[in-house]
Amino acid sequence: MPSTRRPYAVSDDALSNLLHEERRFPPPEELAASANVTEETFAEADADREAFWAKQAERISWESKPTQTVDWSNPPFAKWYADGTLNAAYNCLDRHVEAGKGDKVAFHFEGEPGDSRDITYAELTKEVCQAANALTELGVDAGDRVAIYMPMIPEAVVSILACARLGAPHVVVFGGFSADALATRIQDCEVEVVITADGGYRRGSASALKPAVDEALKSCPEVKKVLVVKRTGQETEMVEGRDVWWDDTVAKASTEHTPQAFEAEHPLYVMYTSGSTGKPKGILHTTGGYLVGTSYTHWATFDLKDNDVFWTAADIGWVTGHSYLVYGPLANGTTSVMYEGTPDTPHQGRWWEIVDKYKVSILYAAPTAIRTFMKWGAEIPQKYDLSSLRVLGSVGEPINPEAYVWYRKNIGGDRTPVVDTWWQTETGMHMISPMPGVANGKPGAAMRPIPGVSIDVVNDEGKSVENGHGGYLVIREPWPAMLRTLWGDDQRFIDTYWSRFEGMYFAGDGAKKDEDGDIWLLGRVDDVMNVSGHRMSTTEIESALVSHPRVAEAAVVGATDETTGQAIVAFVILRSGGEVDADKGADIVAELRNHVAKEIGPIAKPRQIMVVEELPKTRSGKIMRRLLRDIAENRELGDVTTLQDSSVMNLIKDNMAGSRED
Ligand code: WTA
Repeated sequence: MPSTRRPYAVSDDALSNLLHEERRFPPPEELAASANVTEETFAEADADREAFWAKQAERISWESKPTQTVDWSNPPFAKWYADGTLNAAYNCLDRHVEAGKGDKVAFHFEGEPGDSRDITYAELTKEVCQAANALTELGVDAGDRVAIYMPMIPEAVVSILACARLGAPHVVVFGGFSADALATRIQDCEVEVVITADGGYRRGSASALKPAVDEALKSCPEVKKVLVVKRTGQETEMVEGRDVWWDDTVAKASTEHTPQAFEAEHPLYVMYTSGSTGKPKGILHTTGGYLVGTSYTHWATFDLKDNDVFWTAADIGWVTGHSYLVYGPLANGTTSVMYEGTPDTPHQGRWWEIVDKYKVSILYAAPTAIRTFMKWGAEIPQKYDLSSLRVLGSVGEPINPEAYVWYRKNIGGDRTPVVDTWWQTETGMHMISPMPGVANGKPGAAMRPIPGVSIDVVNDEGKSVENGHGGYLVIREPWPAMLRTLWGDDQRFIDTYWSRFEGMYFAGDGAKKDEDGDIWLLGRVDDVMNVSGHRMSTTEIESALVSHPRVAEAAVVGATDETTGQAIVAFVILRSGGEVDADKGADIVAELRNHVAKEIGPIAKPRQIMVVEELPKTRSGKIMRRLLRDIAENRELGDVTTLQDSSVMNLIKDNMAGSRED
């Protein structure tokens, strides 16, 4: 595997294999001729960044137009368009209907079992009005937090927009997370209303969701109401006085609702993401700047045209779903595809069948999916007509050159630019990406910051590195969709992002500027792993393991994995009396894997758990993860001289065999 995803790899040699990457893909002539973003756009933004962002605010309909652009007088707390007022849902819905586009399809929804539904802007507007009215009936006011725990169904989008319409910040929790993870988020955000569904379809069968909500709410007495969508029709317990069906409330509510305008800095949503400590961070996004940032980048990065059919193949529970399945595309009046299920249900050509069916022109997916398709073979997509595709996007982790080239060739028919978009839950919008009409695409490079964004790579002292060198990725100037703080914890916001380098936002990623000054991402430099494009904290999984009565100590590392980018590998020491013989070992490993799934969610299940007698530690007691990672990746061990007891490593190595469970 390429070394691009090695965390801590900020040294120059980490990139050596990429430096031999000589392939270049210039933009297709036709696309370049009518491109949304040109070199002049970069020049304009460079000349006056603030004026550039003031102009982009005109894509949005304001109830009262802002006269200010950015207020950076109290860093790191930014305000954007502070004296403007607007309604986010009005911008995503009503204004398109008023402009005569009510019959345009907002979503082609494709359920996993094969059911499908086209929803126009007029229909979506009506449903959102109904949901807003029903939520008001349930007691939701502006400022109240609402948790959304749902499968990938249109009602999830309706719920998000209904909250936005009411100025009630939504807290979407990925449907694959456990009851415990849901409860933690509900408590941290002091949520009072939860929207969920009986279940959703995954891998060919109905998978229940509501029981996890019931379980979570045992420790969340503040939650007064639960609104339940019927998706699968499976048997569902309803708590009298607390739980109501969507069909009995939303579906019966009035389709008229007058949106109220909120200040630009009114909270829009909180999205939790893993940090390098055990407690997830509640990233706060606000209304005006977020909408300007997501709608601009959606239009710029994908060279969006009015007749495009856009498909973000990501779950609504992640930031990609928020920015590029909901807010960006809808603010731009785009037709999107929304798919409920897994790529191999009922067959491995499902995605390509969908592209063919809806004539998708822009596809936005994660490298882990692309590598999976590579494994399944190019003959599968070849069975479908993919000629409608004109731009391909990638997000979530560095895309290795081979996956990039495979994607372009086998999915894009060797004509489509691939835009590798670097951004984070925190940035809210794309920050680094090739612009498809200008970039001379290099496989594996995110290229340069988008117009109006100021990125740099710096060394340990915070000095800009020369071209050809690596370092830490930082953002030098505020940007419209930036996080405003961590929910309820300004100090952690300052400490996490703004204290490593004076006056700069530190992203937690290593990067390199090549000889042309183009940027290549090198992976995380902290204790955050990236598994299938999902952020996981080593500490969070360690805490989950240690919460099991038989575990005394645990260390978790992210090991390079061909498909998922990184995979979770755990080393555990059992409590005394807990020595295991060979066959019992398998039992405890299975039990611990399930325990982690229960505590956090199935995506956090370690690929491997190794039961060991000791962990390698420095003299000061810090676990040497780097060595553990070497073991997990079967590499020769690095320097062990600082180890308390270097025989530990041999012991662990001997225990490796047979510890893997797939
Ligand atoms: C990584 C997802 C390289 C990076 C939108 C970042 C990437 C973290 C890329 C954010 C990319 C995301 N190239 N690395 N194109 N996109 N990352 O918050 O480490 O889930 O810090 O946001 O994913 O993950 P998050």
